[in-house]
Amino acid sequence: MYNNLVVDYKDGIAIIAINRPKALNALNIETLKELDSALKEACTNCEIKAVIITGSGEKAFVAGADIVAFSSLTVLEARDMAVLAQRVFNYIEEIDKPVIAAVNGYALGGGCELAMACDIRIVSNKAKFGQPEVNLGIIPCFGGTQRLPRLIGKGRAKYYIYTGEMISAEEAFRLGLADKVTEAEMLMEESIKIAKIIMSKAPVAVKMAKKAINNGLNVDLKSGLAYEAEAFTTTFSTEDRTEGMRAFIEKRSSEFKGK
Ligand code: CAA
Repeated sequence: MYNNLVVDYKDGIAIIAINRPKALNALNIETLKELDSALKEACTNCEIKAVIITGSGEKAFVAGADIVAFSSLTVLEARDMAVLAQRVFNYIEEIDKPVIAAVNGYALGGGCELAMACDIRIVSNKAKFGQPEVNLGIIPCFGGTQRLPRLIGKGRAKYYIYTGEMISAEEAFRLGLADKVTEAEMLMEESIKIAKIIMSKAPVAVKMAKKAINNGLNVDLKSGLAYEAEAFTTTFSTEDRTEGMRAFIEKRSSEFKGK
């Protein structure tokens, strides 16, 4: 169905693998459009409760924008590609469902930016992150100058974007760029396990937490807190809230319905 993706629906999880291993899963325009479609399909499918994005093969998650394709674009076409990627990555943040990046290898340039747009990054101990665009005479353009400082702070983001230095999995974890590091062979198992843990929680609560956190990072504290109060009120009015609190009092596990 897709030329550049492999999509597998398994146990309520959409596993989307960027599948251009010969180019280390580099993102060209067609791949970005396919990713957009695959995300929209997963988002509108009621059976799907979580999404995992990964890369095919053992070497790379995504080694960046496709430099070969990029090099033949006009200035305006390059801008269009950056805007397209930003739109697709913003969509990842807007989806109601949790999105996990299972980072199996190089996550460079656009690959680091794709991982950062996901809610959580589970990372193989062989993964390597980086924003090496300065080596190509450009800057990150799929969100890196905005999401990297939000994740690891302004000074560290400048350090890695100005130097283009690669970041090991352990260092990424220390910086807050990776949320969990696993053995390479355990990466998908661990990512699915975490997706299932999240799926076992009250879905509206997870959705509202995602919205409150993402919204809060784009506004001042007071506005973020006001949004949090409204999001909390939404969760408080759900059947799942009644069930969750009743189950606690009755000392049994909750059975959430997503209502
Ligand atoms: N675009 C297109 N092709 C790429 C690619 C990319 N980003 N990264 C790797 N490839 C291709 C290589 O050209 C090579 O193809 P051939 O076999 O046809 O020659 C193949 O993938 C394997 O790569 P290498 O032989 O280079 O593998 P390596 O193990 O020696 O090195 C690497 C791995 C360090 C990741 C190296 O490939 C590399 O530095 N890649 C480029 C990384 C990069 O600069 N990414 C940023 C791109 S710009 C960007 O992303 C801007 C943005 O903000 C969106």
